[in-house]
Amino acid sequence: MPKRIATLLLCLLPAFAWADDQFELGKKKAAVCMTCHGEAGVSSIGIYPNLQGQKLEYMVATLKAYKRRQRQGGLALVMYEQADKLTEQDMQDVSYFFSQVSGKAASRASE
Ligand code: HEC
Repeated sequence: MPKRIATLLLCLLPAFAWADDQFELGKKKAAVCMTCHGEAGVSSIGIYPNLQGQKLEYMVATLKAYKRRQRQGGLALVMYEQADKLTEQDMQDVSYFFSQVSGKAASRASE
């Protein structure tokens, strides 16, 4: 299928279907993040922050700041390697997942 038509079809998908797809995609991409931040974004280790319910825009901005080495100090070093591996789209997807994974969604994360 020509790429332009595929893109058009993607745009025509109902917004909720797209959002749910992004949740699942973000969840897959976030597998590595979960080792430190917890499966549903609630960390079991005191020095790793919770991400569950965090603001999407804040997380994307933070990940970009780690990638550009603009956020420093504390344990920022730990996140440099993580952020380096992410494209801007990955940042959007994983942040969407962690921003949405709460309440009902939290149980989905452990399915
Ligand atoms: C090896 C453990 C580890 C892994 C893996 C990891 N993180 Fe982190 N993350 C941390 C630590 C530690 C911090 C606190 C860093 C600091 O002091 O700035 C942090 C901070 C963050 C923050 C900022 C939180 C805030 O409140 O400001 C975000 C967002 C984040 N991580 C997202 C991710 C994402 C997305 C992934 C997966 C791509 C990931 N992390 C993988 C350990 C980890």
